[in-house]
Amino acid sequence: MAKLINGKEIAASVRKRVRFEAAELREKTGVVPGLAVILVGDDPASKIYVGNKKKACLEAGFNSFEHILPAETTQQELLELIERLNEDPAVHGILCQLPLPKHIDERAVIAAISPKKDVDAFHPVNVGKIMIGDYDFLPCTPAGVMELIHSTGVSVGGKRCVVVGRSNIVGKPMSMLLLHENGTVTVCHSKTADLADECRRADILVAAVGKAKLITADMVKEGAVVIDVGMNRDSNGKLCGDVDFENVEPKASFITPVPGGVGPMTIAMLMCNTLTAAKLAAKL
Ligand code: GUN
Repeated sequence: MAKLINGKEIAASVRKRVRFEAAELREKTGVVPGLAVILVGDDPASKIYVGNKKKACLEAGFNSFEHILPAETTQQELLELIERLNEDPAVHGILCQLPLPKHIDERAVIAAISPKKDVDAFHPVNVGKIMIGDYDFLPCTPAGVMELIHSTGVSVGGKRCVVVGRSNIVGKPMSMLLLHENGTVTVCHSKTADLADECRRADILVAAVGKAKLITADMVKEGAVVIDVGMNRDSNGKLCGDVDFENVEPKASFITPVPGGVGPMTIAMLMCNTLTAAKLAAKL
């Protein structure tokens, strides 16, 4: 039987620490961390995410600046808003919720955010800094996964780590963070010849694909640490991850549930990044 990794609890303790440090920062310097969140259009899932971010900001004692724009917003208008937020000293972090409507070039938008306020760590400057191990911000989901792995007490050093998925948001930076901690990292993707065989080698398996129950019990080594980044609906419409939890759980040493695993960590790490941005702006 695997031990459950309780992301909800770990995220709550990270957020508590952030709230404490934000209060300290305010007392010492008068600086209140501020996060600007931009949402273009009315994707229902994005609306929920943005609402959760606002709630987390208020709970942490941060200022929250919400910019909800209509789907017809032009790229030029969005870039002008980002420029204003880049210049605004009350705003320490800027997050533009993805995906954006089709007529807006996501890369141009990400590149327009000041790297100092890029709390997603998606800007090419920050991606490059992560690559060389000299960074201020880590992308929230991979950073959250590392916290969850640390919570198990299992050290990454020398372990075979398999990341399934190669997105810019999760898979690629995830592989880099595991490498920084001296894991031997394999990245699998849709063209991988034998996914099951690669996964079976993993001491630490991170699934970040977006396919319901892709990782089945026969693909998991006895005693592996299994981290599920997926957030899908199964054939009954029930929320589930990329891992077939019910059948994998008895084989794993530690496993994250969905929901309540990686999900809550993402917002907690966003709060950490916003606090870091505010401290950097206050030259602490
Ligand atoms: N959409 C889904 N996940 C994310 C994220 O981590 N950051 C942003 N900006 N948009 C997202």
